[in-house]
Amino acid sequence: MANYTGELPLASAPTLKLDHPTPKEKLEMWGENWKNWGSALSLQDYIERETHLADIPPTRDGGVTHWILTDPTLPPDARPVLSCCESLRRRTFVSLPSGEVREGIVHGIGSVFSAPLYRGRGYAARMLSDLGPILNTWQKEAGKSHFSILYSDIGKKYYTKLGWLPFASSHVSLPPAASPATNGGNADKAEGVKLLYEEDLKELSSCSYHTGLLYHDLASPAREIHVQQTLPPKTPPKIHGAISTGAPGSRVRIVFSRVFYGPLANAKSGNTLYILRLVVEDETDTDENAQKLKSVLQVAQAEAKEWELESVAAWNVSDVVKGLLKRTGLEYKLVDRENDSITSLMWYGDGQGDSASVEWVGNEKFAWC
Ligand SMILES: CC(C)(COP(=O)(O)OP(=O)(O)OC[C@H]1O[C@@H](n2cnc3c(N)ncnc32)[C@H](O)[C@@H]1OP(=O)(O)O)[C@@H](O)C(=O)NCCC(=O)NCCS
Repeated sequence: MANYTGELPLASAPTLKLDHPTPKEKLEMWGENWKNWGSALSLQDYIERETHLADIPPTRDGGVTHWILTDPTLPPDARPVLSCCESLRRRTFVSLPSGEVREGIVHGIGSVFSAPLYRGRGYAARMLSDLGPILNTWQKEAGKSHFSILYSDIGKKYYTKLGWLPFASSHVSLPPAASPATNGGNADKAEGVKLLYEEDLKELSSCSYHTGLLYHDLASPAREIHVQQTLPPKTPPKIHGAISTGAPGSRVRIVFSRVFYGPLANAKSGNTLYILRLVVEDETDTDENAQKLKSVLQVAQAEAKEWELESVAAWNVSDVVKGLLKRTGLEYKLVDRENDSITSLMWYGDGQGDSASVEWVGNEKFAWC
């Protein structure tokens, strides 16, 4: 990345501008932020993964936009990248007080980063305060943005000051455990539960009312598989979820993804099997549903054990799921996060836009960016 030789500009300087990086600048950005986020991979594998992830169905054709704060008086490839981030476009449904439901889009901001040389000077804050209002109308041909979101790994204060307010950020955590459901890889022997493979996700997605949500469930295996291929000695995972058997409308299902932050089988890595989406189709707190929930969660626990992950996590489970969990007899704990993955939202409509005035439905890991 080109560095300034002269005096650094003030973050408030009117000359600074948001722009998009050139391909060369993008590679340099990834090279810098690999030091922060890429420790499970070699630099080359990290760059390959980022290149791959920028060209999968959800990110292709404008699905992802890369942003930089820079000094436009210098030419591209010779200008400094004072701060950078990306925004990912996704589909949303907004239910208004009138009861009207509108389909729209949301931009989720991710990978907010400043190289150490440029930190503590307000550049990241300047970039974000310029970007917030832009995202209200960015790609408006694709739909209306009622809000933008991000997931803070640096607590609640920084982004709250910039207008992205914290929302529910809790999860249920379960330990890895062997399970009869996946014992010996012989899934057909499991009773009351069916394992979900890639082709099952597509099928669920194509016939589901929640198409938009599942579409993003599908994106995550792409990331997971790509990481896996670079982490010996395992082959890419095949199981992406579990669903209780029985009639549609009465099932319990989960879709999950293994996330590797560091070396395998190392508790310090915090590698986690995230449940991207947990659905109790009839939303009722019954003994039958408790049993179904138990059987799908046991699949997740067994996969976590198989892949030497530290835990299974399901974000912001509903009160019904909390009630069911108590009756599964499984060991679990509820965690309120204060620092990492704080779900945060900037509301573009009327009102405060805080968690008391906006209900964020389906605030689960599938939407993370
Ligand atoms: C987070 C990051 C972009 C902030 O950049 P920066 O240039 O230091 O931030 P700014 O100059 O805009 O803002 C400085 C403020 O941010 C706060 N801040 C910076 N890093 C922080 C961190 N890791 N945790 C909490 N607050 C932090 C400072 O305390 C300071 O607060 P103040 O204004 O109340 O004094 C930069 O530290 C970075 O790239 N970190 C590594 C990647 C990362 O963690 N990104 C965030 C992912 S959510």
